[in-house]
Amino acid sequence: MKKYFELDPWNIIQDKLDSEDNRIAESIFSIGNGYMGQRANFEEDYSGETLQGSYMAGIYYPDKTRVGWWKNGYPEYFAKVLNSTNWIGIGVKIDGEALDIAKCKVKDFKRVLNMKHGYLYRTFTADIESGKKVKVEAKRFVSIVNKEIGAVKYSVTPLNFSGTIEFSPFLDGDIKNTDSNYDEKFWSEVSKKAENGRAMLTVKTKKLDFYLCSLMKYDILKQGKEYEYKAKTLEREKFVGNIAQVSAGENEEVAIIKYVSNVTSRDFKPEELAEAGEKILQKAYAKGYDELLSEQAKAWEEKWKESDIIIEGDVSAQQAIRFNIFQLNQTYTGEDDRLNIGPKGFTGEKYGGSTYWDTEAYCVPFYLATADKKIARNLLIYRYKQLEKAKENARKLGFKKGALYPMVTMNGEECHNEWEITFEEIHRNGAIAYAIYNYVNYTGDKAYLGEYGLDVLVEISRFWAERVNYSEQKHKYVILGVTGPNEYENNVSNNWYTNRIAAWTLEYTIEALGYVKDNEASRYDEIIKKLNLEETEMVKWKDIIENMYYPVNEELKIFLQQDGYMDKEQILVKDLDPKELPINQHWSWDRILRSCFIKQADVLQGLYFLQHLYDKDTIRRNFEFYEPRTVHESSLSPCIHSILAAKLNKEDKAYELYLRTARLDLDNYNNDTEDGCHITSMAGTWMSVVEGFGGLKVKNDMLTLEPFIPGKWDSFSFKVMFRDTLIKVSVSKDTIKINNESEKDIKVLVRNTPYVINALKSIIIYTE
Ligand code: BGC
Repeated sequence: MKKYFELDPWNIIQDKLDSEDNRIAESIFSIGNGYMGQRANFEEDYSGETLQGSYMAGIYYPDKTRVGWWKNGYPEYFAKVLNSTNWIGIGVKIDGEALDIAKCKVKDFKRVLNMKHGYLYRTFTADIESGKKVKVEAKRFVSIVNKEIGAVKYSVTPLNFSGTIEFSPFLDGDIKNTDSNYDEKFWSEVSKKAENGRAMLTVKTKKLDFYLCSLMKYDILKQGKEYEYKAKTLEREKFVGNIAQVSAGENEEVAIIKYVSNVTSRDFKPEELAEAGEKILQKAYAKGYDELLSEQAKAWEEKWKESDIIIEGDVSAQQAIRFNIFQLNQTYTGEDDRLNIGPKGFTGEKYGGSTYWDTEAYCVPFYLATADKKIARNLLIYRYKQLEKAKENARKLGFKKGALYPMVTMNGEECHNEWEITFEEIHRNGAIAYAIYNYVNYTGDKAYLGEYGLDVLVEISRFWAERVNYSEQKHKYVILGVTGPNEYENNVSNNWYTNRIAAWTLEYTIEALGYVKDNEASRYDEIIKKLNLEETEMVKWKDIIENMYYPVNEELKIFLQQDGYMDKEQILVKDLDPKELPINQHWSWDRILRSCFIKQADVLQGLYFLQHLYDKDTIRRNFEFYEPRTVHESSLSPCIHSILAAKLNKEDKAYELYLRTARLDLDNYNNDTEDGCHITSMAGTWMSVVEGFGGLKVKNDMLTLEPFIPGKWDSFSFKVMFRDTLIKVSVSKDTIKINNESEKDIKVLVRNTPYVINALKSIIIYTE
């Protein structure tokens, strides 16, 4: 396997410019702050392989759908997270010759993503065509303290000559999405202004009227001292900038510090943007680059205090887990309940920043345990706010009642148009209900049910009640024509996972209604009235729960993925020619559909979610049947299997699967990192350590742990926030240590023995 980056516990390091794989590095070194983010494109011109990408959370474009065969019910558009104004750009000329490192000899190249302090650094020396040599250093960050602010410090030192260095800092709104369906550009210009030392550009999306106003201001320094310059201004359509020249002697460093603010009409009225952006920019400028950077470092250190995982004895695993945590914290901060987590975050266009079931199924546990509960709560509120759209979606598909949440969305409307996903992957509704259970179970915040939870649960339940049909043949309720989480099967009947999560949702909704009725009677009455919920509906739900049909194989004592699964030729992945893997790149789609091979956890996804309801033997039998048939061709697959393997004491298997998820992007395991990183699966990696190796669960309102340590590691530790108590769990070969870092006592169940850990105290359990 090709090694792309150097190993280091806190940094991702690239020590050679690899022009062929530059797009991979651009994804990996992406930076973001939940509000905006960008791929690690170079500031100066680059004519080599690159995918330009700068994104603003929540700003998207309804790109007109492109399909071969239109089907009723398809959405009109596919939402694209928008590639937007390039604000990092700084053109560089050396005595009139443009610096482009695709075109000159580059030495001592180094690119570092500093995860501890949240910045991107790059340095190199370049021999340009004229024989002149320069040393370049660039450091930039997007601030997690002042979300609209980004800053770049870019310096050039002539190494063998004296001459003129020209900087042309710019804002370029003439940007395209590579995944645009009709090769259209999505932005138009609203206004612009360029003056000596500063510029402003406002652009607007051609549909939906999102406005983005970017402002820049910069200083030039010579040998660290401010340098007076008189810049020329640059203006063309959707583009503004400056050209400033500095004379530099041999070994004299000249630098430009560019400050940028980006404000959008999501937060301000369009006519107020320029003024608001200016104020924010001035404030940041007054602080200065060094202070902004030191604020950034401190804020990241705080984040790490709550979410770090330390692995001793395996630097590759250490680097990987921090990379995953870093990317998750860069993608979503939970400050804005209109935002969610796109599968690629700010690292690429594919899957964009749209919301998938990934959020509820994979990401919620990470934010629940590593941050204040309001962060995960905001992810739930996001769906609550989109309930009306989910109801509309169900109506559009012909349902009289209930809500069907979209499989892919930006604003609550479905924006994906492959029938087998849009219409059939209805299991996503179950994950949304499950996330409510997960949140309430983890935080103990039962008030959430009466406040927001029940509205969503009832509407989802109504959908299930209408989506099932009673089979006179089976004398059971069945669910026909679905796609389960395993997308390598479509239009199946009675996908066990879908049937199970549907019936479970009904059960949980009834339980939640019961809780609110018993504890908040007047709120209960209000909800019943508001939702017009009739007793007969609940009677029907109970009937469905009792009479749901579940396909099983009696002989093997397993749940069947769907009706007819055993008719397929049963082959194991280990018996496939490795050259045929991944099958999605080597086989026809039809062959995949007919095969027994499974893309990602399906029955096992259900057993993972509902593990509290099944005994270990049941989980073991299903795991041993399905895992060997699973090709793990979704990045979301290995983590669930790793957690279940850990639970079943299959430690080697758990570790093997963990490795497939942990360095997925760093090692470009699926050969697609160039398109962006797999952000949502990173949360799965975190789950593999904390829920898998740590065995963390919440049972009867108590945090429970069943840790084991992978053989290769000397020790590992993780922190979790549980009901306002921060605890650190450290596992070594022969001890489990738990530190209570809060001012409240906590009771924890470790390997079935309860322990009380007093405030600010720790306990050590000897395991050998
Ligand atoms: C997976 C889905 C997932 C989507 C986005 C697909 O490959 O099969 O389960 O929601 O990617 O991550």
